[in-house]
Formats: sequence, C-alpha cells, structure tokens
Amino acid sequence: MFQAKKLNLIGGDHTLVGSLHGVYPLRLEETLTIDGETVTIRPAKPVDERQIQEHFYELDKNDILLRFFHEKTSFVHDDVGKASQADYIKNLTILALAGDVGFGRVVGIGEYLLDPETNMARVAFSVSGPWKRKGLGGRLMQKLFEGARDNRILGFTAYTIPENQAMISLFKTLPANVTTTIEDDMLMLSCRFDDPLT
Ligand SMILES: CC(C)(COP(=O)(O)OP(=O)(O)OC[C@H]1O[C@@H](n2cnc3c(N)ncnc32)[C@H](O)[C@@H]1OP(=O)(O)O)[C@@H](O)C(=O)NCCC(=O)NCCS
Repeated sequence: MFQAKKLNLIGGDHTLVGSLHGVYPLRLEETLTIDGETVTIRPAKPVDERQIQEHFYELDKNDILLRFFHEKTSFVHDDVGKASQADYIKNLTILALAGDVGFGRVVGIGEYLLDPETNMARVAFSVSGPWKRKGLGGRLMQKLFEGARDNRILGFTAYTIPENQAMISLFKTLPANVTTTIEDDMLMLSCRFDDPLT
C-alpha cells in the first residue's frame, strides 16, 4: 500500500480500513472468453480504483441514472473508494475485466453492501454498453451470491425502476424465490437464499 501510494498508483488519502482485515477471496476468480476476448471476473482490490472510475465515466447517461438514481458527472474517491476497498464480507465488489490479465479494463461491476440489522445485502450492477446481454451481469451476480452465501448473508435486495427489465431479469437469475414490492414508484426486489425455488 505504501509503495503504491509512493508510485502514485493510488491516491494518498486511501486507507486500508476494510481490506486490511479482509482475506482476498481467491475462490471467486474466474476467466471467461467472450467473443474471442479474455474476460477476468475477480473481486476488486484497492489498486482498481482508477479503473472503476473509468468504467463509470464511460457509462451512458441513462445507465448512470439506472445505477445511481440521479444524474452524475463525477466519480471521485469518496464515490468509488468503498468499491475498491471492500472488506470482502460486509461489502464485496466483483469486477469483469476485458483484456489480458493485468492489463484489463473494467467492463462490468457487481457490488453488494450488507445491512447488518437485517443481514440482507443490497446489490447494484453496471455493465458497459457493448458488453451487455453477453452473460456478464449473470456471472457477476453468481459470484456475489457465492461470496454472500459463504459469508452467511441471508439474501439480497435491490432497488430499481419498474421499467428496468434487464435488472429484474438479472435479479431473477438468483437460485431462490424473488419477491417484488413497490415503494414510492420504485421496485424493491428481495430474495432470501433460504427460500429455494420449488
Ligand atoms: C442490468 C445489467 C447489469 C444487466 O447486465 P447484462 O450483462 O446485460 O446481463 P446478462 O447478459 O447477464 O443477462 C442477465 C439476464 O437479464 C436478461 N436481460 C439482460 N438485458 C435485458 C433487457 N434489456 N431486457 C430484458 N432482459 C434482459 C438476460 O436475458 C438474462 O436473463 P436469462 O438468464 O433469463 O436469459 C445491465 O443491463 C446494466 O448495466 N444496466 C444499466 C445499469 C442498471 O440498470 N443497473 C441495475 C440497477 S443497480
């Protein structure tokens, strides 16, 4: 961490709050080939912050609205720091990186953040335009599910607009029953892992 700061690979205001205690879940790594290109699926690390920012800057306006629920033109350290410095238990971020290992660019992100009171975790996703509908969201969801199950999390929730069919379908790829409720014009999706599909 100290060396990376010295080399300006990561900002000086970084701390190792979460990742210091977390053990990198190597078991969640996977390499795929999509349209002839290598795609690495793996948990995020503190050094990924710049790449995560670039992914968000490349999203189109509508996807930013769907992901963050408001217009957003800057993604500073405070916005993305949590994603890259996950503790791998209470919060977990899985990246999809296209290109050679070590040189890949982020083309998809799946994150969960635990609500300790309910032991349910909120999930959020973004996949870059040209990479949509190629199964990346599904792989990211599967990895988050495996991580959450290992960490004894009860289930996932997600908020989205009722028109976001892609997110609704993605959430329904979870291997358990999904309930949907409407709250203030937003759709609340919920899935408890102990309520398996029959
Ligand atoms: C939601 C999102 C992450 C899905 O990613 P993706 O990589 O395209 O998803 P996948 O290709 O893995 O598809 C997952 C499922 O959703 C379905 N799906 C994907 N896009 C769809 C669309 N536009 N309409 C209907 N279904 C869709 C797929 O058919 C698949 O279902 P299946 O397994 O039953 O066939 C992507 O569309 C996105 O980044 N959207 C903008 C941000 C957003 O909406 N985030 C969610 C709120 S946090």
